[in-house]
Amino acid sequence: MPSVYLETYGCQMNVADSELMLGKLAAAGYSHTQNPEGADVILVNTCAVRDNAEQRVLGRLGELRRHMHRDTVLGVTGCMAQRLGSRILDANSRVSLVVGPDAYRALPELIDGARRGERFTATDFDLEEHYDDFQARRFEGVKAWIPVQRGCDYRCTYCIVPYTRGSERSRAMADVVRETREVVEQGLTEVVLLGQTVNSWNDGSGDFGDLLRAVGAVEGIRRVRYTSPHPNDFTDSVIAAMAEVETVCEHVHLPMQSGSSAMLKRMLRRYTRDGYLDCVARMRSAIPDLSITTDIIVGFPGETDAEFAETLSLVRAVGFDDAFTFKFSPREGTPATRLPAELTVPEEVVDARYEELLALVRAIARSRNMARLGQRREVLVEKAARKGGDLLQARSRDFRTVMVPAEAAAIGDYLTVELTGTTGSTFTGTPVVERAHLPLAN
Ligand code: SAH
Ligand code: SF4
Ligand code: F3S
Repeated sequence: MPSVYLETYGCQMNVADSELMLGKLAAAGYSHTQNPEGADVILVNTCAVRDNAEQRVLGRLGELRRHMHRDTVLGVTGCMAQRLGSRILDANSRVSLVVGPDAYRALPELIDGARRGERFTATDFDLEEHYDDFQARRFEGVKAWIPVQRGCDYRCTYCIVPYTRGSERSRAMADVVRETREVVEQGLTEVVLLGQTVNSWNDGSGDFGDLLRAVGAVEGIRRVRYTSPHPNDFTDSVIAAMAEVETVCEHVHLPMQSGSSAMLKRMLRRYTRDGYLDCVARMRSAIPDLSITTDIIVGFPGETDAEFAETLSLVRAVGFDDAFTFKFSPREGTPATRLPAELTVPEEVVDARYEELLALVRAIARSRNMARLGQRREVLVEKAARKGGDLLQARSRDFRTVMVPAEAAAIGDYLTVELTGTTGSTFTGTPVVERAHLPLAN
């Protein structure tokens, strides 16, 4: 049996795609190996969203060469493959496959060809493709990533994703519900619905609110999450579904990007500062204790001190539970790269703003977490804590990471804990009831 080793970079959509690829290759007779040494096929599933994501992969491709024997096939898949296409083959003589996100169906044949010494670039978009018939090989023990939408029809001026993932398309509700039932049969109780603007999902039979209701009602599912929504697609129907469906968790990752309406306009985000605040207010009034996390970019071309100050003030006004912060990275071919060069924000200014934003984000998260000490949460035990010891890592419905003392056998269980300590970002929790193997019913 030939073996395949696969590494994944980038977002959850890429993780889900890797699971689909491994499923497809397992069906084609490949065994999966966790070690690149001696693997017959090495695949690197890549991200193109920022330059540093690409640099990491390029460095890694060099390292992986050391593990390859003469006949090892090295393939690059994902967003960098789509963005650079045959340029990857030209630059790296050991790479023989470049396969974009819509071309994974052909992987077994492409690998066969590569093993005969051929080299391929497969980067056509396929607007029908959802890989519905693939059996994903899941590695996350307690929750399942379920893509419900591929591509993106927004054109945020900084973003490469519409070019690497193509146009938006929604997967049929029946297929999403069927996959949800399958993951319950595999013993998982949490699903995360994935799409670039996931709440714009619409398969012609219903909107994202309908999808949340359908998935949330699948017997055996205890938690439904989704990522990432776009603020403009939070219709009343979607918010109502989030509030009413008990299995849908009280957390939303709501990318903000900037707090300045002028900046948001240059980014083509299609909402204003007030529009964002309004979205937050509507969600908070429907879902008490909603936890909100976000993405923010600093140093987009033309960002003034005053505009950056508006980002800081919006971060304060919303009070995020956590935020991912990014320095703007120009992406070839995106509209932002065509802005006049004099609008480029000097590196030292970007660095200083980044540090200031990060400090604020952390301080707010810390104070919000401190305020939750002593409260109780139901947590799902996910895995051993990275730092080891006797602690396991668990997650609350409101997306807080809680370290709990428990044996490995508790992975997959729901516990009620009291939040007894916090580092500012994560918690320690003390179980307040005997560990209960709760029935898998709603
Ligand atoms: N589809 C998702 C986000 C995909 S990319 C959404 O719209 O929410 C994840 C995050 O990366 C974005 O929210 C943005 O904050 C950041 N990002 C995207 N392109 C970037 C760039 N060129 N430079 C810096 N950050 C970027
Ligand atoms: Fe990129 Fe904007 Fe689409 Fe998100 S919504 S993937 S940021 S273009
Ligand atoms: Fe990266 Fe592609 Fe996801 S660019 S963030 S892996 S959609």
